[in-house]
Amino acid sequence: MAKRIDVSGLSAYYGSHKAIDDISMTVEPGSVTAFIGPSGCGKSTFLRTLNRMHEVTPGGRVEGKVMLDDENLYGSGVDPVTVRRTVGMVFQRPNPFPTMSIYDNVAAGLRLNGIRRKGELDTIVEKSLKGANLWNEVKDRLNKPGSGLSGGQQQRLCIARAIAVEPEVLLMDEPCSALDPISTLAIEDLIGELKERFTIVIVTHNMQQAARVSERTAFFNLAAVGQPGKLIEIDDTERIFANPSVQATEDYISGRFG
Ligand SMILES: Nc1ncnc2c1ncn2[C@@H]1O[C@H](COP(=O)(O)OP(=O)(O)OP(=O)(O)O)[C@@H](O)[C@H]1O
Ligand SMILES: [Mg+2]
Repeated sequence: MAKRIDVSGLSAYYGSHKAIDDISMTVEPGSVTAFIGPSGCGKSTFLRTLNRMHEVTPGGRVEGKVMLDDENLYGSGVDPVTVRRTVGMVFQRPNPFPTMSIYDNVAAGLRLNGIRRKGELDTIVEKSLKGANLWNEVKDRLNKPGSGLSGGQQQRLCIARAIAVEPEVLLMDEPCSALDPISTLAIEDLIGELKERFTIVIVTHNMQQAARVSERTAFFNLAAVGQPGKLIEIDDTERIFANPSVQATEDYISGRFG
């Protein structure tokens, strides 16, 4: 089931450097929220605080609260590995496990979760590849390496891998930036289908993409180089693009930035 994300007072550091400052926002379940803003304003950092990946970076530290429905992901006793299973992530560059077959790329996380029966694995692998709109292209070569696919196919394989373990939230960090326009459209269509089952957050530098895929858009910005990134505003995507509340948002989306 898709879950609501409720962030309050969240700051993240790399050692003594504060990368994002005091962010609060709500992400509605079963919707797509786009994160936009200039390079270095902390979009990726913030995204990684939503599944406890930030703390994997040496010196990475988080203050504040991230509620997933009624569970604080940073509560004492919460296992970060379980969090990462619940909140899946797709990265900017498709990163299939290079030596593994297409099938094993999708099955790896399931096996880690203790699913061993071949029949059950087959069923979930097929369902996940269908869910990622990749099944028809790969069903006759499931035992070939994932690295032999095109970039767009590899990214859909990574999406299949992420959804196979049935996360509740799917975080995507510029998932189309390495893809051609046709693969990009395929991923955007897929996001439209997946949002019924998952709460989706997508970081993108492509304004048209944000406008096409998201219901809500969050604009992040830096007051100055070296300052931490801040959330400037979050609102319905239509409103952010037509009539934002803050001048900096308008300057950014109309390209009059910096
Ligand atoms: N591993 C790291 N160690 C130290 N500082 C980092 C690390 N990763 C990011 N930062 C710093 O944190 C700040 C935010 O970076 P982040 O990658 O989150 O920005 P971004 O908005 O995703 O940028 P882009 O649009 O270029 O991807 C930057 O000042 C960056 O230099
Ligand atoms: Mg980034």
